[in-house]
Amino acid sequence: MTQDEAKALVGKRAAQLVEDGMAVGLGTGSTSTMFIKALGERVKNEGLKIRCVASSDASTELGLSLGMDVVTLNVLPELDLYIDGADEVAPGFALIKGGGAALLREKIVASSAKKFVCVVDSTKLVEKLGKFPLPIEVIKMALPLVEKRLSELDLNPKLRMLKDGSGPLLTDEQNYILDCHCGVIENPEETAAEIRNIVGVVEHGLFLGLASMVLVAGEDGVTEITE
Ligand code: A5P
Repeated sequence: MTQDEAKALVGKRAAQLVEDGMAVGLGTGSTSTMFIKALGERVKNEGLKIRCVASSDASTELGLSLGMDVVTLNVLPELDLYIDGADEVAPGFALIKGGGAALLREKIVASSAKKFVCVVDSTKLVEKLGKFPLPIEVIKMALPLVEKRLSELDLNPKLRMLKDGSGPLLTDEQNYILDCHCGVIENPEETAAEIRNIVGVVEHGLFLGLASMVLVAGEDGVTEITE
């Protein structure tokens, strides 16, 4: 099975978790895109009545293009279920997210949901977080200060650039992303607290204690981890 096939499989399985009448959070990234498309099919074919809040402009546009009712948290402040991917999943449901630069809105939507189900292919499972660079969203003005503080913590920050190299990438909230090439994160809670302490950091990509279930797609199909 290719990675894309695994993402499609787990996205489809996640769409089955959605029930009529639910308020649903839509994640961001390629796996979430598969989920949103599968959910859109259910809305179209089964007449599923749901309302959604998305964690990025891209997912909002995708949902709307599929005829889904996508509103803001102002309209729908409490969600039943949030489905989203991750860049790394370690034991205890410790996640790194933000490879798609949507970590801030993702954490807000995840925190507004009663249940966050993370959907990944098996390549995302790790014993310890940190091989994937940890994204941190930063207020533009504070970039030099935050870079300095993160370097002092040996987190090795690098400003994320646009793919064509024409300038720094801006998030949906018009902030910068610093990707920290820090290697293994031995104590995610401690690292999260240190980062949070830096003035000018808006949010970091460590998602700790937020997910309550992980669906993993691999050669044997989809496995449900509830721990
Ligand atoms: C978006 O900012 C991220 O948190 C994604 O959820 C994460 O990068 C996983 O993306 P893929 O599903 O594209 O691998």
